[in-house]
Amino acid sequence: MNDLIKYLQQYAEGEPEIVLDIPLFSNKKQISDPKVLNRLDAVKKEALMCTRCQLAKTRQNVVFGDGSADARLMFIGEGPGADEDRQGIPFVGRAGQLLNKIIAAMKFQRSEVYIANIVKCRPPDNRDPLPEEAESCIPYLEQQIQIIDPDVIVALGKVAAVRLLNLDPGVSVKSIRNQIHNYKDKPFIVTYHPSYLLRTPSGKVEAWKDMQVVMGLLAGNIVWSPDR
Ligand code: URA
Repeated sequence: MNDLIKYLQQYAEGEPEIVLDIPLFSNKKQISDPKVLNRLDAVKKEALMCTRCQLAKTRQNVVFGDGSADARLMFIGEGPGADEDRQGIPFVGRAGQLLNKIIAAMKFQRSEVYIANIVKCRPPDNRDPLPEEAESCIPYLEQQIQIIDPDVIVALGKVAAVRLLNLDPGVSVKSIRNQIHNYKDKPFIVTYHPSYLLRTPSGKVEAWKDMQVVMGLLAGNIVWSPDR
């Protein structure tokens, strides 16, 4: 327990320097079923040509998603920033570097989880996606979730949480984290967006607590049922 407290303090202060001895468990389900890959590829092909909203006019790349089709854990952010737009990969900028550290602290490889966004094209000047942009784009994400069928979903920040849980846009992340939500019968955790954590490093303690719940769910130490 002392190790955990030390770890949380170090995490809050910056880099975690020690790695906790959390029981290792694979977060892989199986080698990707070709049928799953084909279905995901078909959705990706469609998304890459998408012109359903105005973001298509200003994007450099469609940022479809990144990671394993077998992922038991899926992270969902808001929308691509400039770096992501340039590279066509989600969470590769500064916020992405922090997300990578969080994933590594959970003892996962980034390639084992799946990372996607509410909108697949960059909103200009990093503004929040407009409701109509999220509306046109959400069918892609819904199909990604359905095909990948993760065991746990993590919303990174308010935009993803509000859109997927159909909440009042005025809610705060603080008021909706620290509980296990139900997204189509899957456990759904809300945590702070890595960009927020970059601005507010003290929030990392809470974010790490959220990740402990995620790990507990994946390990089967926390039992959750959609009927509760
Ligand atoms: N912020 C997001 O919400 N998504 C990204 O892909 C990058 C930054």
